[in-house]
Amino acid sequence: MKPAILIDGGIHAREWISPAVVLYIINQLKNNPQQDPAIEKLVDLYDWYFIPVINPDGYVYTYTTDPCWRKNRRQTSSNPVCYGVDLNRNFGYDDKTWDPSVGGSSDPCNYVGYAGTGPFTEEESKAVMKVMNRKGVNFVAYMSFQSYSQIWAYPWGYTQDTLKDAQDLRNAANVGAAAIFSKSKKIYRVNQSALFPEFGLIAGASDDYARGGANIKYSYTIELRDTGEKKFFLPASEITPNGEEILEGVKAFANYIYKPRRKNYYYNKW
Ligand SMILES: *[C@@H]1O[C@H](CO)[C@@H](O)[C@H](O)[C@H]1NC(C)=O
Ligand SMILES: [Zn+2]
Repeated sequence: MKPAILIDGGIHAREWISPAVVLYIINQLKNNPQQDPAIEKLVDLYDWYFIPVINPDGYVYTYTTDPCWRKNRRQTSSNPVCYGVDLNRNFGYDDKTWDPSVGGSSDPCNYVGYAGTGPFTEEESKAVMKVMNRKGVNFVAYMSFQSYSQIWAYPWGYTQDTLKDAQDLRNAANVGAAAIFSKSKKIYRVNQSALFPEFGLIAGASDDYARGGANIKYSYTIELRDTGEKKFFLPASEITPNGEEILEGVKAFANYIYKPRRKNYYYNKW
């Protein structure tokens, strides 16, 4: 069985650059318009899975009504101002990995961060969880594209405890970030999620679940452009350059973690 890579975007409605960059990657891998042999090789080596817009209702709402909306649009209370759950606080597999009091909120009226009444109360997070655990698919990497900050973060987010193989995840992320830098001179900072001061501790995020709940070794949240100038309102002219640099990052990363000579590497857990 080939190793597989899962890439998603649009978990937060207002992060418009994310679905755009995921679509850019899909087009490059599927059509390979530059006939890049490195892409041809990676398409052969891996099965690729994409979910470009995890949160379609929220995404539409940012177009029609409120460009800063982040949550989904489920009617969680009678007050329409309070609709929605933060899908990236709604993952988890125990009372530490899902915990509204850690970087989230248990108040439905919170504009951001409402974690729901338990893990996977939302159809959207549940659907992603099912893909992560799909039988017969050998996911070795998960990348959740969000924005903004230019960060390539690995678990854990809910605790400062360190993964036993954190160095593997860090090395692979550094390879990706270096490829991004050589493409565009943009700096993406690599670290454990919980160690970024701008995040703090966050429970309920999809990357922690991918790693701890679905056993996907190389699990990441990647925050795209920019570093705080235009924030969620990047001009459209940023889409292609952000896509180009991330494509280089994904290529270098995927190439780096592929270890064909180690027999059964992907079947053994770490
Ligand atoms: C990760 O974050 C910690 C805490 O801010 C910092 O001390 C450390 O230098 C960072 N590591 C890297 C590689 O940036
Ligand atoms: Zn986000």
